[in-house]
Amino acid sequence: MGDNGYNCWLRYTKIEKTELIDNYKKYVATIWAKIDSQLLSSAVNELKKGIWGLMETEPEVVSEKPAFQGIVLGTFDVIEEMYALEFLQEEKNAVKEEGFLIKLIMSDTRHNIIIAGKTDKGVLYGVFYFLRSLMTQKEVEQIETIENPGNALRFVNQWDNMDGSIERGYAGQSIFYRNNEIGYDLERVKDYARLLASVGINSIVINNVNVREAALRLIMKEFLPSVEKIADVFRAYGIKIYLSINFTSPIHLGNLPTADPVDADVKQWWKEKAAEIYEYIPDFGGFLVKADSEFNPGPYVYGRTHADGANMLAEALAPFNGIVIWRCFVYNCLQDWRDRKTDRAKAAYDNFVPLDGAFHDNVILQIKNGPMDFQVKEPVSPLLGGMSKTNQVLELQITQEYTGQQKHLCYLVPMWKEIMDFDTYAKGPGSTVKKIVSGSLFERKYGGVAGVSNIGDDINWTGHTLAQSNLYGYGRLIWNPDLTAEQIAEEWVRLTFGNEQIVVDTICEMLMNSLQIYRNYNAPLGIGWMVNPGHHYGPNVDGYEYSKWGTYHRADCFGIGVDRTQKSGTGYTGQYHKENAEMYESLDTCPDELLLFFHHVPYTYILKSGETVIQHIYNTHFDGAEQAAELKDKWMTLKHYIDEERFLQVLERLKIQVEHAKEWRDVINTYFYRKSGIKDKLGRIIY
Ligand code: GCU
Repeated sequence: MGDNGYNCWLRYTKIEKTELIDNYKKYVATIWAKIDSQLLSSAVNELKKGIWGLMETEPEVVSEKPAFQGIVLGTFDVIEEMYALEFLQEEKNAVKEEGFLIKLIMSDTRHNIIIAGKTDKGVLYGVFYFLRSLMTQKEVEQIETIENPGNALRFVNQWDNMDGSIERGYAGQSIFYRNNEIGYDLERVKDYARLLASVGINSIVINNVNVREAALRLIMKEFLPSVEKIADVFRAYGIKIYLSINFTSPIHLGNLPTADPVDADVKQWWKEKAAEIYEYIPDFGGFLVKADSEFNPGPYVYGRTHADGANMLAEALAPFNGIVIWRCFVYNCLQDWRDRKTDRAKAAYDNFVPLDGAFHDNVILQIKNGPMDFQVKEPVSPLLGGMSKTNQVLELQITQEYTGQQKHLCYLVPMWKEIMDFDTYAKGPGSTVKKIVSGSLFERKYGGVAGVSNIGDDINWTGHTLAQSNLYGYGRLIWNPDLTAEQIAEEWVRLTFGNEQIVVDTICEMLMNSLQIYRNYNAPLGIGWMVNPGHHYGPNVDGYEYSKWGTYHRADCFGIGVDRTQKSGTGYTGQYHKENAEMYESLDTCPDELLLFFHHVPYTYILKSGETVIQHIYNTHFDGAEQAAELKDKWMTLKHYIDEERFLQVLERLKIQVEHAKEWRDVINTYFYRKSGIKDKLGRIIY
């Protein structure tokens, strides 16, 4: 059967295991629900669609009378009132705002699967959980559960421009915009909303953080009716929409002479603007702001602080319960490579830590996982753990800007796990990033995670079909940061390619190895960059070495790495809490995988692995290219188990990866051989 990948993990193909279906069929002939909200209507529609696809049964939807047999759906209150069912108090207490309970009732008189929430949104999430359980072939007795999200704010950020292009998009054009028009394909947007809701995403920023040209005017009457239409689509799936704004909008759109955040007219302009937006979208989420960052203007232009800027916007949004998400990607992008003191890695911390506690309650700082920019391996940003009195959201990149641009297979969940589980020691041992960003460690009002989306209008959404696993995995992980990368991979494979064991085992293995393989043939030992400037695809060791972006490796004929120690370098290590500062400061304890991020060492320096730096570079690059070829061979073994369309689509990408990994291998190895003059001790070919 052909499958173009459009349905991703919501395929709802018929379950082959007949005993399993027979068991479920006892429950699914009827859906009991009082459909009095869009969310419940979405939930019921999804359930009907799923049950039809999986079991070829068309359930009858009934709203009144006691529900003796069937699925019962709704909030606790409604279910108790309408269907003569009672819940235990502890069950009700255990389910939080967006959580759900799934429970079986099997007695002589009743056969019910109950999907209950405190809110309709929780019920919708429960329905997706239920359908997922079916697709992964859980026995009916195994589906009872109580789940609550580990993060309250679960964002995707679209970096979509209004001309239809996507900044760092690798899967076609925007599904939101074309030719400076918005909302041209609402059906597609709806299917995106379904995909997002199915993994628990509840917030979306629908335009690029770099707000230029037509996008400036998204907050104007000209576009608000169209923005409203998008908001309507997402609302039905429990997703709030946000807009990225340009800090100098009052100048561009309001004809004011300034955008100074303390100026009375500027404040007034934003207040009126907020009020206008809420007329169209009463549950509008708020603004995302990239200010004083990579040529985007911000409060610094007026000699004000980021707190001044963010708070001014927060005041405009507060009457409507809106929030400001303020990005911390602030650094000097006009650096001089000759200057060894300025360190881009230090910038976010230096800019924001002094402002801890100065932000209003409805401001959240959005912090990239690393201090640089989504490299293949970076330390965790010391800003995560550097503030205790400020709401924070972690920013991850689902789109594979530096991780193979959806031509290479790179399952990112293991990297996100490294980040989430990192112990910052901000409040003693156990102060993991996941606790900081969820808001639990410092008992913050808001917390969560934002991910830069990897989708476009390619028929399979993500270009590389296997890159769907990153969007899926992102949602699942931020819903439950305690899931393992393996668990998520397995779920995704079962949902996307079916439950055949060889398929599950092979693809899981490919996914789980893919990040390390990519790292092997990429920039070594945490140094990062080494990509072609601009588009960031493909190897170019000196691509950013003499640029203004602050991204240097400092390789010469003796050694490589950036000295970021306090003793002799830029002092960056001092931004971490003592335990980590000491670990990174000392060559004895700095982990190999981050060595060159923190230290400049000779090529002959011996790593903890026992290899020299130069031999490690050669070994990993030869290995990486070979392992990329093995990925393709693994995939070939699935030829008869996967529909032709998706099989060939993935194969085509894997072939590109094999060739391109060789390019990485040879460019990197040759570069370092020429720099160091040291031969590979295994005598392999270095050009
Ligand atoms: C990276 C990326 C840019 C993006 C920026 C950001 O630098 O290459 O395209 O605008 O991050 O996060 O703002």
